[in-house]
Amino acid sequence: PSETVDNGPLAGRRVVITAGPTREPIDPVRYISNHSSGKMGYAIAEAARAAGATVTLVSGPVSLAAPSGVEVVPVQTAEDMLRASSAEVDKGADIFIATAAVADYRPSATADQKMKKSSETLSLELVRNPDTLATIAARSDAPFTVGFAAETNDVAAYATDKMKRKKLAMIVANDVSAPGIGFNSDQNAVTVFWSGGQRAIGPAPKSEVARELVALIAERMPAQP
Ligand code: CTP
Ligand code: CA
Repeated sequence: PSETVDNGPLAGRRVVITAGPTREPIDPVRYISNHSSGKMGYAIAEAARAAGATVTLVSGPVSLAAPSGVEVVPVQTAEDMLRASSAEVDKGADIFIATAAVADYRPSATADQKMKKSSETLSLELVRNPDTLATIAARSDAPFTVGFAAETNDVAAYATDKMKRKKLAMIVANDVSAPGIGFNSDQNAVTVFWSGGQRAIGPAPKSEVARELVALIAERMPAQP
């Protein structure tokens, strides 16, 4: 647990962070999801709080405790995540950080009752989910918006392309093909890109990567009016 700095670099700022996986229901007992632990998002929430910010975590289902002094808004699906994040940004936000591993697709229909097996094969129709990060970044009152990009190859090219396409202030690229890094690990190594610059952070514990990332965001964001 870190101490909160009332005159820290993010004092007076409101930060909204998405974290964890989403769950897309197939029927009352089954869902599509992924292995995101939420650790990176929770570590960033703790670091932003320690830097003096007011922090809200819009979080998919994870087995992590809320960092002290951080408000957690629990969500399940990608659609919930968009709705909850938009409502939080409506209240006014200076910084939006999307660390969540959002399911890109959801089943086109959810069965009301538990599905029974019958045929030898089963196809599920999936439909695209809304993109929370791109939606927030496209607002006329968009906060300083930071995305994550987990890639296995051509990391810099894919990440900078995502930054431009989604109109982000900054993107944090993660090479998830590196062993012991990323998803369920306590360690991370990232390269942060912005228009006209980049910085490598780690390999280091996620708490340290989070602190350095928060310091970089504070450095790069527009000054308080
Ligand atoms: N993201 C989001 N909502 C989605 C999909 C992604 O908010 N429906 C956010 C993630 O939280 C992350 C960033 O967008 O900050 C990039 O996610 P990623 O899965 O790497 O990119 P996609 O745009 O989904 O592209 P693809 O999976 O095809 O690489
Ligand atoms: Ca995706």
